[in-house]
Amino acid sequence: MAATVLSNGTRYAALPRSYIRPASQRPQLSEVSACDDVPIIDLGSGDRNLIVRQIGDACLHYGFFQVINHGVPRRVVEEMLEVSHEFFNMAVEEKMKLYSDDPTKTMRLSTSFNIQKETVHNWRDYLRLHCFPLDKYAPQWPSNPSSFREVVKKYVTEVRQVGLKIEEAISESLGLDPKCIKNMLGEQGQHMAINYYPPCPEPELTYGLPAHTDPNTLTILLQDSQVVGLQVLKDGKWLAVKPYPGAFVVNIGDQLQALSNGKYKSVWHRAIVNTDKPRVSVASFLCPGEEAVISAPEPLTGNGSSPVYRSFTYPEYYRKFWSESLDTQHCLELFKN
Ligand code: OGA
Ligand code: NI
Repeated sequence: MAATVLSNGTRYAALPRSYIRPASQRPQLSEVSACDDVPIIDLGSGDRNLIVRQIGDACLHYGFFQVINHGVPRRVVEEMLEVSHEFFNMAVEEKMKLYSDDPTKTMRLSTSFNIQKETVHNWRDYLRLHCFPLDKYAPQWPSNPSSFREVVKKYVTEVRQVGLKIEEAISESLGLDPKCIKNMLGEQGQHMAINYYPPCPEPELTYGLPAHTDPNTLTILLQDSQVVGLQVLKDGKWLAVKPYPGAFVVNIGDQLQALSNGKYKSVWHRAIVNTDKPRVSVASFLCPGEEAVISAPEPLTGNGSSPVYRSFTYPEYYRKFWSESLDTQHCLELFKN
């Protein structure tokens, strides 16, 4: 199938057939409301107890939140977005050198979601990079645009610190030692997806990304500041998450749902597309170390609440995730006791 990417300069007058969802699975955009009360957490507030409480509340009731004053310099964020646009604006011949639909590759340009497994495609191209350890992975990254590696190195290093800090607060909010979750996760991996959603002739009929939960621990998403597209499921309703200047959107992934014994939910989310403007988003995924055994720690399974999920490792989980087509069920369901 689609052996090329969408960002190839073609102007599509109509949505190609292979992207059209059956009527019952379309995004129903007129029913989506803007979410004005996404929790915004000020990581620079200096009030540690407040941060922990706010993060705990957000994880419990939303599964996602935004963080501001996160410590990543504005310039680093801007350059990350600029180089992402530059990358996808390159000639298609240049980009296609990096194309692969093999999910086991640690650096690849691809399109849709899982082109080998899915029945309907998605209006998205993406560059997927493994990031940590940097010494191992950065030399595999694109050398074009010429600033790509330096810019991305800076960005992923900064974002990692934000993620680790948030994991500590999450651990504490569960009544655990701040280091408990980090210690359980071992030497964490970090992946990145730079998503590019070209203008789409018929956004009502398709998705950039259909509803999914993220398989990893924690996701930190940088949204294009001008173009909306992210939607999150809350109490059965899809809500549009407006980009907030300078903020990252953070969501709980499947691994934290498992580690919290189901208390914190890995939130369903999706990306929709628009007719006018390309949209870029940069997702950073923290992932458990390969050896880490994922199972809820004792304090969360005691007192009569038995473990909801069986123990597993991330490589086992990840293989399962990519063997599915995304638009089926929550992968974690397959690991229930
Ligand atoms: C993802 C994702 C949302 C977006 O990459 O997993 O959910 O807005 N992206 O691009
Ligand atoms: Ni996602």
